[in-house]
Amino acid sequence: MAKKRVVTTTINDRQVEFLCQPRQTLLESLRDVLNMTGTKEGCTNGNCGACTVLMDGRPVDSCLVLAVEAEGANLETIEGVAPSDGLDPIQTAFLENAALQCGICTPGFIMATKALLESNPHPTEDEIRFYLAGNLCRCTGYDKIVRAVLDVAESREEVSA
Ligand code: FES
Ligand code: FES
Repeated sequence: MAKKRVVTTTINDRQVEFLCQPRQTLLESLRDVLNMTGTKEGCTNGNCGACTVLMDGRPVDSCLVLAVEAEGANLETIEGVAPSDGLDPIQTAFLENAALQCGICTPGFIMATKALLESNPHPTEDEIRFYLAGNLCRCTGYDKIVRAVLDVAESREEVSA
């Protein structure tokens, strides 16, 4: 068996060190080594987006990233989204719009939405649908998800108006 590697990375603003096999994915390390099971495993081949995390601010499918590639990176996962005293507005909007059914896809959608709104705070519906096209929901909840993202964007507009 190949020698394990030490990976030093930042996850949700905390420096973390963990051991992994050279071929182990970031998704496996998050869930099985670090017990961060908020990031979900769907297809494990880059098709569903359930495993989306942010790596240096960009959404990535953690099932397609090797854990060793996280060396020195700044990772954000669903566990770091909510502030200590409640929910992030994205999470609240998903709840209020019932934008989840089985919930497996939800962490990935929320992480992708976070990345979208950071790069484009006021997206149109078309831009939202285009940006989130890499995230699949087998419960067919897309309209509610898109509504939730529009609500967050609109509430940001009201605050900044
Ligand atoms: S589990 Fe990674 S894209 Fe589906
Ligand atoms: S809520 Fe079930 S896959 Fe999206």
